[in-house]
Amino acid sequence: MIVKSAEFICSNTQISKLPPPVKAEYAFIGRSNVGKSSLINMLAGKKGLAKTSQTPGKTQLINHFLINDSWYIVDLPGYGYARASKTKKADWNKFIHTYLDKRESLQCVLVLIDSRLEPQKIDLEFCNWLGEKGLSFVLVFTKADKQSSLKTDQNVAQFKKALLQTFDEFPQYFVTSSETQLGHDDILSFISEVNKH
Ligand code: GTP
Ligand code: MG
Repeated sequence: MIVKSAEFICSNTQISKLPPPVKAEYAFIGRSNVGKSSLINMLAGKKGLAKTSQTPGKTQLINHFLINDSWYIVDLPGYGYARASKTKKADWNKFIHTYLDKRESLQCVLVLIDSRLEPQKIDLEFCNWLGEKGLSFVLVFTKADKQSSLKTDQNVAQFKKALLQTFDEFPQYFVTSSETQLGHDDILSFISEVNKH
């Protein structure tokens, strides 16, 4: 798929104010600072589309971006931001869980995992929650440019081992870098295939 147009549509804290659920949408989620907004910009081929930051907790709202006038990329606030208050974390959970659970036009959740790290409890818990809800998801290992491909492979293998303790099958996954564009074509082809159904 070629991205011909990518347009910011809206930011929301209220589920009731989201765009009508008539176009396919793909939610990008993962720990704070994992690289969600950067990946969205890389896929869209537009640097400033989603706001990125070195400081975790940059994205605080549900942001809709319309691609090729036909489907949405949704940038979500990151989970696991250590410095967020308990109330804020609870609000986040409620809000995001409601969005993911109830959004009829959601086709697939892309769960971003930092490829440099060993399996993190919070990522595994989130995948388990998606599994319990029966939500379709794929894994996206980010920032692969930051270490050797051997190290990335090792971390992916470890994540696989950890996830297979609760899942029968390892989901489809992508290894990406927003710096080198690694994974760009594979993710867009995947979305293009899902959009056909
Ligand atoms: P929140 O909105 O705070 O949850 O963060 P986020 O997941 O949207 O992360 P964001 O895209 O803002 O990126 C966080 C930091 O990681 C920024 O400094 C990015 O430049 C950097 N970064 C993101 N992706 C990559 C990557 O693939 N390679 C490298 N080297 N740096 C990256
Ligand atoms: Mg962000």
